[in-house]
Amino acid sequence: MNENKIKNVLILGAGTMGLQIGLLCAVQGFDVTLYDAFDKALEQAGQRVKKIAGHLVNQGRIEQKKADAGLLRIKFTSDPESAGNTADLVSESVPEDPALKQEVFSLFNKTCPAHTIFTTNSSTFVPSMIAGATGRPDRFAALHFHDCSITNIVDVMPHPGTSAKTLETILAFCKAIGQYPIELKKEQHGYVFNTMLTELLGSALGLAAKQVASPEDIDRAWMGIMKTHTGPFGIMDSVGLETVYKITSYWAKKINDPKRKANAAFLKPFVEKGDLGVKTGKGFYEYPDPAFLTPNFMKGIR
Ligand SMILES: NC(=O)c1ccc[n+]([C@@H]2O[C@H](COP(=O)([O-])OP(=O)(O)OC[C@H]3O[C@@H](n4cnc5c(N)ncnc54)[C@H](O)[C@@H]3O)[C@@H](O)[C@H]2O)c1
Repeated sequence: MNENKIKNVLILGAGTMGLQIGLLCAVQGFDVTLYDAFDKALEQAGQRVKKIAGHLVNQGRIEQKKADAGLLRIKFTSDPESAGNTADLVSESVPEDPALKQEVFSLFNKTCPAHTIFTTNSSTFVPSMIAGATGRPDRFAALHFHDCSITNIVDVMPHPGTSAKTLETILAFCKAIGQYPIELKKEQHGYVFNTMLTELLGSALGLAAKQVASPEDIDRAWMGIMKTHTGPFGIMDSVGLETVYKITSYWAKKINDPKRKANAAFLKPFVEKGDLGVKTGKGFYEYPDPAFLTPNFMKGIR
C-alpha cells in the first residue's frame, strides 16, 4: 500500500488534537471520520473544527476554499462499527492513558479492515507500549502532531515491530497532508521536541510550585531572553492543563519522582476547577486575550 491508497482517515478522539488532525487531512482531500465516545464532545466538535479552520485561514496557513471543501469531508460519529469499517489509516488522539489507548485500539482492531494502518498521537508513550493491543503491530507506529497553528512538523516513530512498508506509507502520508516528518531511528519517550520541552515545562512548574517566582515572571524571563511570544505557562495553557497534569502525574507515579509529584499537586487545583487553559477560557491566563500578549506584560524588558 502507498499513500495513494489511503482515502479514508479515521480520527479517534474529537478533542484538541483530533479536531486539528482531522481538519489537516480533510483540507488535503482525505475523507475524514471523527469518532468520539462522548456525545458532549461530538456536539461541540462541529463548531470547534470550524473555529480551528477559521483561525488557520486567518493565519494564512490554509486557503478559505480548501477549508470550506475540507469541512464538508468530515463526518462525526460515536459508532465504532461504521467508523472503523472504511478506515485506511487511524490516527488516535484519546486522553494520555496507556490503558485507555490499548482499549480503544483493541476495539478498533475488531472493526477496521486488515489493511488499516494504526497510528498514535501519544505525547509521552512509545508505540511498543501499545503495539500488542492493536492486534497488528507491524501496521502500527507513532505519528505525533504538534499544534497545527504553529508548525507542520510531525514526529514519526516506529517500534521494533513496525514493518518497513508501514513506515514508508506513514512518511508518504505525512507529505500528502502537508506535514514535515521528523523520523526517529529509535523509540524515545517525548520524541525530539517534546523531550526538550518536557524539561522546560517541568523546571517552570518546579519554580512556581516552590514559589521561587510567579508563573508570569517565569514566563517573562523566558520570553524576554529567548525573544518568544509565549513562555512555559502560556505553552501549558495551549497544550491543556489536564493533559499536562495527566502526563506529570503518570510519570511521578511511574518513576516515583518527588519533583514531578509536587508539580502534579500544583496543577491539580486548576484541573479540579476546570481551568484547563485556552480551551476553557482560563488557565494560568485568561483567554482569548491573555495578559502575556499585551504590551504591558513585557513593559521595561528589552
Ligand atoms: N494537546 C496537545 O497539545 C497535544 C499535542 C500532541 C499530542 N497530544 C496527545 O494527543 C492525545 C489527545 O490529547 P488532546 O489534548 O486532544 O485531549 P482532549 O482531552 O482535548 O481530547 C481527547 C478526546 O478523546 C475523547 N475520548 C475519551 N475517551 C475516549 C474513548 N474511549 N474513545 C474515543 N474518544 C474518547 C474525549 O471525549 C475527548 O474529546 C493525548 O495522547 C495527548 O498526549 C496532545
